[in-house]
Amino acid sequence: MAPTQDAIYAELDADLSWSERDLPERERTKHVHRLHPYLGKFIPQLVEELFRRHVPAGGRVLDPFAGSGTTLVQALESGLDATGVDIAAFNCLLMRVKTREYNLFTLEHDLRDALARFERGEGRAGRAPAYMREWFAPASARELLRFRSLTGEYEHADVLQVVLARAARSARLTTHFDLDFPRAPQRESYWCYKHRRECRPVEGAARFVRRYTLDTLARLKAFARVRTRHAAEVVHGDALAVELGGQFDAVLTSPPYPGLIDYHEQHRYAYELLRLDDRRELELGAAASGTSRVALAAYSDGITAVLERCALALRPGGPVLVVVNDRRELYPEILDRAGLRLDGCHRRHVNRRTGRRAGEYYEYVLIAHRA
Ligand SMILES: C[S@@+](CC[C@H](N)C(=O)[O-])C[C@H]1O[C@@H](n2cnc3c(N)ncnc32)[C@H](O)[C@@H]1O
Repeated sequence: MAPTQDAIYAELDADLSWSERDLPERERTKHVHRLHPYLGKFIPQLVEELFRRHVPAGGRVLDPFAGSGTTLVQALESGLDATGVDIAAFNCLLMRVKTREYNLFTLEHDLRDALARFERGEGRAGRAPAYMREWFAPASARELLRFRSLTGEYEHADVLQVVLARAARSARLTTHFDLDFPRAPQRESYWCYKHRRECRPVEGAARFVRRYTLDTLARLKAFARVRTRHAAEVVHGDALAVELGGQFDAVLTSPPYPGLIDYHEQHRYAYELLRLDDRRELELGAAASGTSRVALAAYSDGITAVLERCALALRPGGPVLVVVNDRRELYPEILDRAGLRLDGCHRRHVNRRTGRRAGEYYEYVLIAHRA
């Protein structure tokens, strides 16, 4: 007999509830997981353990809300093939850069050459567009635009674009404690809650370009040492509509949750600087859509349809694993409507120590199969 929903939700899985000491930040952000900040990712060790428990060796996994690519990266490390879908162009760029298999020699040549030329003053800034003039000090805008003009000349242009986006994020006119969703440019010195002193907005971007070029190179090399030669496929599109080719052994995903995060907006600087395609109107559960009854109903319909499609792409008996902090208890009905039976759940304790969103909460890994 299937366990009751209450029993399923009550169980705490101590093996998935790491403390800061068990799993320090350095481990949670190992190699390419820290290639660029991304708000709303799950930790790689959770993914690794779920693969170990639920996915056959050498299998193929699907993540329809792949975000920054944690599932894909860990799949490559765990010897699995993976497909990730995301509606946000920047997330797809980031995933491709994280998961590609590189010729490390040409990669290093490209990155060091671009950096050297940038530091010699090469590249053309041109006139800064309005967004750059608003959000960056004049010197930062010029440096970022100059670096941008060089990126296109290299085979690894997309890696340089991720460096550029990360440098832009750090060089924006924001306070140090509001990097995720700054509301207005910060032009004057301010009292910094993070550093507990008076801080000044950033005046130049060159040191970030240097720091992140070298850090990116080191992280891609570190990942190359631990990855297997399995394949990761990145699909840019709406999970409600894209083709989900082939059969998968498991689905593992952490869906967006209503009213929490705007996934395009958090990387606005990257969309502006890299002129990426903005499809925010297709984001499910975007914070901008709010949490009205209508918005929640649209969210539930959307997630239901995506999970239903994913389940059809699974081999018989393959699990659908959904990582979610389901405060509104939307998921029992979503799974049911998607034709999925909830067979189990890992409840894990999450203790976030840093940032303004620090705090403790429980998160569920729902384990479902086609009914
Ligand atoms: C919670 S995040 C996933 C984070 C991911 N697990 C990670 O570790 O990076 C949810 C993702 O769903 C994406 N998303 C929202 N609506 C989508 C849609 N209709 N189709 C595909 N992806 C969508 C968002 O862009 C966001 O990246």
